[in-house]
Amino acid sequence: MNPSQERAWDAHHDDWVIELPTGERQTSVASDAHVDWTSAFGRQAPLIVEIGSGTGAAITAGALAHPEANLIAFEVFTPAVASTLSKLAHNELTNVRLVVADGAQALATVFDEGSISELWTFFPDPWHKARHHKRRLVNPEFAALVASRLTTDGVWRLATDWADYAEAMREVLDSCPQLVNVHDDWAPRFEGRVVTKYEQRGIDAGRIIYDLTYQRC
Ligand SMILES: C[S@@+](CC[C@H](N)C(=O)[O-])C[C@H]1O[C@@H](n2cnc3c(N)ncnc32)[C@H](O)[C@@H]1O
Repeated sequence: MNPSQERAWDAHHDDWVIELPTGERQTSVASDAHVDWTSAFGRQAPLIVEIGSGTGAAITAGALAHPEANLIAFEVFTPAVASTLSKLAHNELTNVRLVVADGAQALATVFDEGSISELWTFFPDPWHKARHHKRRLVNPEFAALVASRLTTDGVWRLATDWADYAEAMREVLDSCPQLVNVHDDWAPRFEGRVVTKYEQRGIDAGRIIYDLTYQRC
């Protein structure tokens, strides 16, 4: 962490960061981990969950735009979470919680079936090399898991600037019987998505940005 991230972490992590019991690795989640989200937020509200929140641009904008929702962001890179803390503190947001953990694992353990209103995965790591494609977050097992955690009309919003990953996402999500493509095609740009350095890098390199929105059916 740089000095400003260290300051943000020390000053604010108690206010927003939820610690989960860890598994084998520091960012893996123990299989018996449990969170009572109603008591973690002090209220019951629709849950919006982001996996791979980076420095928190989308989760901060989402929390400002949706005071009626409880937002939870998972990010494995602690310095990025510290940067997110600065944004949450600056905006005095009370409807966000952050978890430094593997969000895919956490989804399976700390959320009940049918409990998440929206899931966001924006610009997940592309893992370009074919032999690394198995590391991609969006795969058939993850899609089935997401579908099981969404509420009956819950939505999954995704975005990427890599055409081959976008096509692979479409294939995986179209093959998941519990999900339906809301727009039959690529989704219009999700207005709640703030342009981050990852999206800007893609735009600057002349790449198309692909948005996808699928709904639980
Ligand atoms: C390319 S960045 C995009 C960050 C952000 N969504 C944005 O658009 O600026 C991908 C992020 O996902 C995080 N990440 C990757 N796999 C993850 C996982 N399983 N759980 C939580 N975070 C993850 C990485 O640490 C990284 O910060």
